Amino acid sequence: MSDSRLPLKLSTDTGKNLSAYLLALRWNMSRIVLVTGASAGIGFELVHLLAEKGHKVYLGARDLTSGEKALDKLTSDGHKNVKLIQLDVNKPSTLYAAREVIEATEGKLDALVNNAGIGSLHLDQNALTVDVATIRETMETNLYGLIATCQTFIPLLRKSISGVPVILNVSTALGSNWTQAQTDSLLRVVAYSTSKAAANSYTIALAHELKDEGFKVNAVTPGFTSTKLNGFHKGGKSARDGALVLLPWVLLDKEGGTGLFIGENQKEVPW
Ligand SMILES: NC(=O)c1ccc[n+]([C@@H]2O[C@H](COP(=O)([O-])OP(=O)(O)OC[C@H]3O[C@@H](n4cnc5c(N)ncnc54)[C@H](OP(=O)(O)O)[C@@H]3O)[C@@H](O)[C@H]2O)c1
Repeated sequence: MSDSRLPLKLSTDTGKNLSAYLLALRWNMSRIVLVTGASAGIGFELVHLLAEKGHKVYLGARDLTSGEKALDKLTSDGHKNVKLIQLDVNKPSTLYAAREVIEATEGKLDALVNNAGIGSLHLDQNALTVDVATIRETMETNLYGLIATCQTFIPLLRKSISGVPVILNVSTALGSNWTQAQTDSLLRVVAYSTSKAAANSYTIALAHELKDEGFKVNAVTPGFTSTKLNGFHKGGKSARDGALVLLPWVLLDKEGGTGLFIGENQKEVPW
């Protein structure tokens, strides 16, 4: 019995080694992952990458038609381990329904990726003139929706038998207050930035509250990626490359960090 991915070799000599082996086996098992806002862009590519690695993935989509199109692409690519789940982070009833389905089918969730997000970048986002309604709408999805999603799925994440429940909040360098405070800060889009900075703040609080339970709660930015969110602005990386930045933070093991803000170079960046 050998598996090159395992850090330990099975020794039948002692119960201690056997339980260490079983623990290692659990960590290497396929995980049950939910990705929100996954009908397009970085979320879709993350689902694709996770499916390629043999994990069972719930592709969260607020619109069933675009979700089905996304699922079709994956199934025609041979990925049978992806399931579509309707989920609008701003509609609690869809969150509860999604939790019921995953609980009934899997009995647990190992990782939640809060990827759903909006930029509202076509609207005025100057601090002096921004319409408060733009801020409210952006907060609704990027902050309140994210919080509601976390709170809905944490009970299921607590049942993760890997013992390493993960919450990954997809963030952005534009949500770094430190970066925004620099005079050479690249771009100022106040609705998007404040919503993501607030989500970062929530990430810190959540990571502290869940630390003793072994949760890994982090904010990670994929870096500038050409997607629908920015009108497929030229010069960004591909959605798959953006998703590749996120991937290791979905599959953290017991040694993985928590309460971190990670940049596109996989290193910690200032909040
Ligand atoms: N693109 C970048 O340069 C960049 C950089 C840093 C961070 N990010 C972050 O990366 C994440 C993914 O964005 P993306 O660039 O891949 O953009 P995208 O292609 O527009 O994807 C955003 C996804 O979120 C979904 N969504 C929006 N509102 C939702 C809601 N209320 N409930 C559920 N799903 C919702 C969208 O669904 P619909 O298709 O139905 O609209 C879409 O599938 C976002 O959190 C974004 O802030 C992006």
